Amino acid sequence: MRVLVTGAKGQVGSELILEGEKRGIQMLATGRAELDITQQDAVNNFIQTQKPDILINAAAYTAVDKAESEPELAYSINCDGAANLARTCADNDIPLLHISTDYIFDGCKVGAYIETDTPNPQCVYGKSKLEGEQAIESILEHHIILRVSWVFGANGDNFVKTMLRLAKERDLINVVADQHGGPTWAGDIAATLMKLANRWGDGEPVPWGTYHYSGQPATTWQGFAEAIFERAEELEMIDKRLQVEPISTAEYPTPAQRPLNSILDCSKLARQLDINQPDWRIGLRQVLVSWMQK
Ligand SMILES: NC(=O)c1ccc[n+]([C@@H]2O[C@H](COP(=O)([O-])OP(=O)(O)OC[C@H]3O[C@@H](n4cnc5c(N)ncnc54)[C@H](OP(=O)(O)O)[C@@H]3O)[C@@H](O)[C@H]2O)c1
Repeated sequence: MRVLVTGAKGQVGSELILEGEKRGIQMLATGRAELDITQQDAVNNFIQTQKPDILINAAAYTAVDKAESEPELAYSINCDGAANLARTCADNDIPLLHISTDYIFDGCKVGAYIETDTPNPQCVYGKSKLEGEQAIESILEHHIILRVSWVFGANGDNFVKTMLRLAKERDLINVVADQHGGPTWAGDIAATLMKLANRWGDGEPVPWGTYHYSGQPATTWQGFAEAIFERAEELEMIDKRLQVEPISTAEYPTPAQRPLNSILDCSKLARQLDINQPDWRIGLRQVLVSWMQK
């Protein structure tokens, strides 16, 4: 099986390549330089020449706050780019595994979001990702949309990296304590997507559609920060545990509005594909250990 990965240098993309290689699968890794998903002709040409059996799209515009001031760019990658991939996949009879986000929800629900809850994104990034989902659904039957949340990995910028940097610079840090969600290790997302790709490769039926996938237990950014400092101290990556002061979203204004609750109910994936929620604290430890070994 040949698996084409777009956005292969990102947090999830880089883990996808590792996961595929671990499974002995032929991975076609493309970053923006090799394959810009906003260019329909380039996407067509690449797929017609390389003839992958399945495409996993890990390319996205992910700068949530910056998207507020450059919406055209966010839409061109997250919506038009996704639509370009879906069109080419449809023309060449290839399935598309695509990643979306918890930020398509407004966060007002009491309880965890299920796949059929009405989306109502409150920021440009969330809106552009939702339009990307809708484009794929309207163009291509053989697709999986995996909505994930609070992604962290060994490669790229993320909350874990920022917290570790601050731990070395400060004694106290204010962290938002009223946004609830599930941190998700990029390695777990990659493993899930590769399981789905393998299923297709092995000729097993794939229940196409939209699924939620996030780490558990649900927490807040404050809870996540405390766990990072605890693990980093255990691993002797920092000398002292940083004091974490809880603050509200209102006290930490950002250009993009984020959902207060974006906990994802992941039971559909468990029911239909026997894939369970991972414990993000295990992924966190693995990321920290990988940085120590560098
Ligand atoms: N990060 C999160 O917290 C989070 C949360 C929920 C959902 N997600 C979703 O999870 C998926 C993976 O996110 P991630 O955290 O791995 O993102 P990431 O680390 O920002 O990686 C995205 C990759 O896409 C590439 N890219 C951007 N524009 C492109 C284009 N036009 N053509 C080809 N490649 C392009 C980027 O390359 P450059 O570096 O050259 O721009 C980057 O390598 C995305 O769909 C994202 O929306 C992420």
